[in-house]
Amino acid sequence: MPQRITPMFALLALTLTSAAPADDDRLGAVTDPTTRAVCGDCHLVYQPALLSARDWRQIMTPQSLAAHYGETLELDETRRLAISDYLQANATVSARLDPPPTSGLPRITETTAFRHEHAELARLQDSAGQAIPALGDCLGCHPRAESGIYEDDEVRIPGLGHWRD
Ligand code: HEC
Ligand code: HEC
Repeated sequence: MPQRITPMFALLALTLTSAAPADDDRLGAVTDPTTRAVCGDCHLVYQPALLSARDWRQIMTPQSLAAHYGETLELDETRRLAISDYLQANATVSARLDPPPTSGLPRITETTAFRHEHAELARLQDSAGQAIPALGDCLGCHPRAESGIYEDDEVRIPGLGHWRD
């Protein structure tokens, strides 16, 4: 029944074209002071546009904060809701077709857009067995990640130097 395949292809095409909006290399710095203060303690203050509103909503529930990727985050309701609102209001719409994670909390590194942008790197990692920073460590390769700048001509990979496209 070949015609039953068509809707799947249509969905795939939609997912791929929506994965790379033109300005995804310049997301801007996180401007909300509460988010900067609370979410920059342990890692980069991830830009809200790196995940969908659904993902942020899930990450910011009290249950999720109590088991935040192995950490316990304690946050009063006022700040929890303020951060949650800010993240959801500025989330990406291009990740909306990503399936929810099968287990655990959503990860930026598992979104369609991220995988698409880092596909070549993942191949390099596999083939050369290079000691490359973990993909969640954005600052390891994108020197201006704090400012939300991910332009490909600024990528520097420790041990490999400038990324040649
Ligand atoms: C007490 C330390 C700590 C604080 C504070 C913290 N995080 Fe995290 N966060 C972690 C750890 C640890 C990980 C998992 C790192 C890993 O497994 O690579 C993580 C992972 C994440 C990830 C997944 C990154 C990926 O791999 O794609 C997101 C998104 C995230 N944190 C968002 C937030 C937000 C939003 C806040 C503020 C509400 C916050 N974090 C505050 C410790 C923290
Ligand atoms: C090990 C190095 C490395 C790490 C770690 C890394 N990236 Fe990248 N990133 C790259 C490379 C290489 C490219 C692709 C450059 C190209 O287009 O050839 C890229 C591309 C991108 C792009 C697309 C840029 C454009 O011009 O469209 C975005 C956005 C991005 N990365 C975000 C992130 C975020 C967010 C993180 C952390 C969660 C991250 N990266 C972690 C190496 C890395």
